[in-house]
Amino acid sequence: MTNPMSPWTEYLREYRETHGRPPAYLTETMGCQMNERDSETIAGLLCDMGCVPAASRAEAAILVINTCSVRENADNRFFGTLGQIKKIKEARPETVTAVCGCMMQQQHIVDRVKEKYPWVDIIFGTHNIHEFPELLRSAVLERAKAVLIRDDGGDIVEGLPFRREFPFKAYVNVMYGCDNCCTYCIVPYTRGRERSRRPAAIEREVRDLAADGVKEITLLGQNVNSYRGRDDDIRNDGGENDTLDFPGLIERVGAIDGIERIRFMTSHPKDLSQRLIDAYKSCDKLCGTIHLPVQSGSSRVLARMNRRYTKEDYLERIAGLRAVFPDIAITTDFIVGFPGETEADFEETMDLIERVRFDSAFTFLYSRRKGTPAASYADAVPEADKHRRFNRMVERLNAITAEKNRAYLGRTEIVLAEGPSKTDPSMLTGRTDSGKVVNFRAPAELAGRMLPVRVTGVRTFSLYGELLPECRNAPENIPLSRSLAGILSDFE
Ligand code: SAH
Ligand code: SF4
Ligand code: F3S
Repeated sequence: MTNPMSPWTEYLREYRETHGRPPAYLTETMGCQMNERDSETIAGLLCDMGCVPAASRAEAAILVINTCSVRENADNRFFGTLGQIKKIKEARPETVTAVCGCMMQQQHIVDRVKEKYPWVDIIFGTHNIHEFPELLRSAVLERAKAVLIRDDGGDIVEGLPFRREFPFKAYVNVMYGCDNCCTYCIVPYTRGRERSRRPAAIEREVRDLAADGVKEITLLGQNVNSYRGRDDDIRNDGGENDTLDFPGLIERVGAIDGIERIRFMTSHPKDLSQRLIDAYKSCDKLCGTIHLPVQSGSSRVLARMNRRYTKEDYLERIAGLRAVFPDIAITTDFIVGFPGETEADFEETMDLIERVRFDSAFTFLYSRRKGTPAASYADAVPEADKHRRFNRMVERLNAITAEKNRAYLGRTEIVLAEGPSKTDPSMLTGRTDSGKVVNFRAPAELAGRMLPVRVTGVRTFSLYGELLPECRNAPENIPLSRSLAGILSDFE
């Protein structure tokens, strides 16, 4: 809440008088779900300050760029965007420009932005999002450049407002930071050490989301398996019940009425416990899918990446998951061309691909990140080899994805209808329990419902389907159950 007499309120009043409406903001987000969720918080803070969302850059009085630094092309994209912002500033000098996110946690980048891009008004990092309103006020009211970066997260700030991107699904942070120090990765430097939120705070957020119509939540963390929640009601006795672990957290949020689906992201293979695997059996709401980044199929490369598992360990975890949930959809990330990766290492990766048969995968060319251990590894893979390996891998991975999708033809799946499809607004789009995107013809008012859809067509990265005819006028939400027969009997 803003003080009615405050200079900010005065600014809002003047702005409305001259422009006929409150200042509009636009957030542009690069990077992962953590950043997307952070942008939702930034949007929430701006709305609380009396601003409104803008539909485009042209409309924005406040422009916030939330950056990612995971690979070099992310950095380059940001510097490209800064060039475009310069033009906006030239045309409309009163526009307030803010940059934040993971790139801003690196001193050399902050220095470069301050020195070479004077049209940036506000710079803040990943640990001081809650201080953004203050920075914005000083940038607007005092016309001062506002720069604030904190080195580490300290205590988690709870209770910040947020403005959700999607009506029926939501991201929920369960932990921040990462302590793993994979040798290629910048994230531990940009997100700080690992901190888990209190279970009660997470529970409260999920309850509020459910009350607001959210059906599906994705629990977020760089390595959710190392979630350790402390709370007053958990015995802090140094024993088994000292903290709540991630499977325990799933059970807690799974008990919240209205939440029909739970997903999570990301889990590190080294910490994938049998308890978490068993949750696929014990928790109906836990969706039958897992994103388990493997990075490489070569145990030698994995050791140099400091991943702390071998190819065999990974295959064992996959077998464990499939033993409990045979149909589980498994997705992953690969890095191609890590320093020292030989043809033999690459063949190990291709072999792993054949053995696991991933539902889908993201493949990244290794990108050298300043300050990480691998940045000083001398044995870089020649560009041509990297690209050749990348192409061969992607081709094979995509072929397997298409085969996996073809297996869905003729099957009836429960889909959470999220809203109109971007490519064809007469269709609804949603995801199966296993996370496959399905587009199907259905009236827009069915958005937000769990619906049985028969898969009638397959593309490499999505499915097409038909709503079961008897469901078109179904008045109530279809209750969640793993048993399709049970769901269909509701319509008889
Ligand atoms: N915490 C997650 C990953 C976060 S980063 C995990 O450990 O699984 C997302 C993906 O980006 C990683 O899985 C990895 O495949 C990729 N990545 C990270 N650093 C990279 C780098 N320096 N070069 C190329 N890809 C990288
Ligand atoms: Fe990066 Fe490894 Fe942490 Fe994932 S687990 S964020 S890859 S350091
Ligand atoms: Fe990028 Fe930061 Fe996420 S570096 S991948 S936005 S944690």
